[in-house]
Amino acid sequence: MTTTHDAEEDARNRDLLIWVDGELVHRDEAKVSVYDSGFMLGDGMWEGMRLYDGEWAFFDAHMDRLFSSLKAVRLDLGMGPEEVRALLDRTAEANGMVGDAHCRLMVTRGVKVKPFQHPSLSRSGPTVVAIVEHSRPAEALSKGIRLASVPQVRGLPHSQDAKFNSHSKLNCVIACLQAEAAGADEALMLDPHGFVNTTNACNFFIVRRGEVWTSTGDYCMNGVTRTNVIAICRDAGIPVFEKNYSLYEAYSADEAFLTGTFGAQTPVSAIDGRVIGDGAGPVTREIRKRYRALVARNVAEQKAARGR
Ligand SMILES: Cc1ncc(COP(=O)(O)O)c(C=O)c1O
Repeated sequence: MTTTHDAEEDARNRDLLIWVDGELVHRDEAKVSVYDSGFMLGDGMWEGMRLYDGEWAFFDAHMDRLFSSLKAVRLDLGMGPEEVRALLDRTAEANGMVGDAHCRLMVTRGVKVKPFQHPSLSRSGPTVVAIVEHSRPAEALSKGIRLASVPQVRGLPHSQDAKFNSHSKLNCVIACLQAEAAGADEALMLDPHGFVNTTNACNFFIVRRGEVWTSTGDYCMNGVTRTNVIAICRDAGIPVFEKNYSLYEAYSADEAFLTGTFGAQTPVSAIDGRVIGDGAGPVTREIRKRYRALVARNVAEQKAARGR
């Protein structure tokens, strides 16, 4: 079994220092209250970011998404993006990290006075935690992962908008369990109309006859990597379409890949037992190459802006 977030084993992660509400503490001591809104209700938002050469790639785009989500649920972080960057930098520095590191920044509504749902019961907070791990995507991912389409669908935006990177990921977790039961690594989720939408943890693309297709974006996470891949294709003159398509077209794709901050572009080897390929195909490889260059450019721009 492979998962899209498999990383190479790194012993240094056993002694990580984790940011918990303004303090850096050993991972064994890093704890939040059982009354925390995140633990009790999944009432919180998170961001996954990667460190390259001392900078958090596409930091502004991640902050834009995080602060939009927080505003939508009236969760006041009590600090701005530059203070977030400072706490992430301090955490990375305390762990001796410059690159090959992955962060999960979590913000919850804080500690409740009673074990019930109403947001007004969260009286102290927010709770802010940053886990930054030494992280290199596992070699096995380059061979591709197997997807299974599952009965669990992506919902309409007026139930729980998929654009919320909320602590509650139960919809995705149920989909993942269904994929596992089908003997696959990750779930391919459809939208309410039956069109192919996304996987439980990443955005999804296919390549057909030289064209790159992804969903309309209506029911999936507004992935930073997804947006970058679409921009890369446009820039490179690779035809790219955000459109409805079905499993019929996905099964006969020439290539398929997932996108996410952790794995960048991860090839798909099979969908519901239909073989797609053995590792990254030529279009995926070209996009990967251009994505690495885009990360390098973004990191250089951030360094220049910060006078580093
Ligand atoms: C459900 C889901 N889809 C896609 C993504 C990928 O988003 P990004 O490219 O911003 O990492 C994530 C990551 O948070 C996610 O949770």
